[in-house]
Amino acid sequence: MAIHTVVPTPSKSIFLSLTFLILLSFPHSYSSEVIPQSDKELGEVAFNFIMLEAQILCYGSLGSGLESLAPQYTGGGPSPIGAQKAILDPLTRHIFTQFCYQDIGHLRALQGILEEPFRMPLLNYSKGVFATYMDNAFERTLNPPFNPYANSINYLLGLYLIYVGNSLAVGAGPMLESSTFKAFLASLLGVDAGQEAIIRALLYPVREKLVLPYDITVAEFTDRISEYRNKLGKAGLKDEGLVVPTFLGAEGKVEGNIIAGNENSTFYARTLQEALRIVYGTGNESVPGGFFPNGLNGRLPRSFLGPGN
Ligand SMILES: *[C@@H]1O[C@H](CO)[C@@H](O)[C@H](O)[C@H]1NC(C)=O
Ligand SMILES: *[C@@H]1O[C@H](CO)[C@@H](O)[C@H](O)[C@H]1NC(C)=O
Ligand SMILES: *[C@@H]1O[C@H](CO)[C@@H](O)[C@H](O)[C@H]1NC(C)=O
Repeated sequence: MAIHTVVPTPSKSIFLSLTFLILLSFPHSYSSEVIPQSDKELGEVAFNFIMLEAQILCYGSLGSGLESLAPQYTGGGPSPIGAQKAILDPLTRHIFTQFCYQDIGHLRALQGILEEPFRMPLLNYSKGVFATYMDNAFERTLNPPFNPYANSINYLLGLYLIYVGNSLAVGAGPMLESSTFKAFLASLLGVDAGQEAIIRALLYPVREKLVLPYDITVAEFTDRISEYRNKLGKAGLKDEGLVVPTFLGAEGKVEGNIIAGNENSTFYARTLQEALRIVYGTGNESVPGGFFPNGLNGRLPRSFLGPGN
């Protein structure tokens, strides 16, 4: 008896049929999937919302924007109005510098996967835009006007106000056709929801502290901003501050609300109209303003504007 048994080499034909079967068992070959126009239009919406975050992150932490840091991803769009370097403690600057560069990666990936060079919309980050939002949220004039660039806490509250894109991405997910793009959006949401959670997590330990020079706590600021976003969105409760009545906390058991979530502690979903009403600050998807004086770019958001826009 030979000790070594000779393992028969599978014939080429068996090998090829196996490969064929393996290929068949995958629903799509991701790399070759054509992304439909309807998904590209939703992708352009995402582009606008990533830009809204990216520019304030980059200007606030580094003092410069995408026009100089990554002009290849702006489509030659106009420089934002009123953005400036914020006065931040070293840790806060360190964290948001990371977020700025993360968002540049997101812009590259999004435009690459969709093979579309989108154009950055006009953005307005003037102190006055934030001050108006805060005055409306409190239904009174804050004195002095709220300045998001004045210190780390104010900057975090300004970012808290701006992060609307994640709830929109949750709402848009089911509308996508392409599995490639769905998978991409989920991976983007993983990091972007992480960013939003970190903003809340940085505010949470100081929730009982006053936002100087006002006689208002951090928790009340977040509550008012969230309430105001609910009001602008006109779609009921989809937003919650850092401290909530117990019945709104996780499983109705806690007041602490470091991450906002619905009754199952999953993320709230917003429609495009709801998100536009908030970032325009007008409560009307047909009336641009706020952070987007001329509205978002792209067919979907522009379809809500009147003729001539
Ligand atoms: C930007 O916001 C400031 C402050 O609200 C406002 O005065 C200015 O007109 C806005 N710019 C544009 C182009 O809308
Ligand atoms: C929470 O989960 C239950 C069970 O799946 C479901 O019936 C309910 O609609 C969910 N609530 C929300 C707000 O998604
Ligand atoms: C939104 O604005 C448009 C254009 O000005 C107007 O026709 C419409 O009535 C507004 N909608 C609401 C709900 O106010």
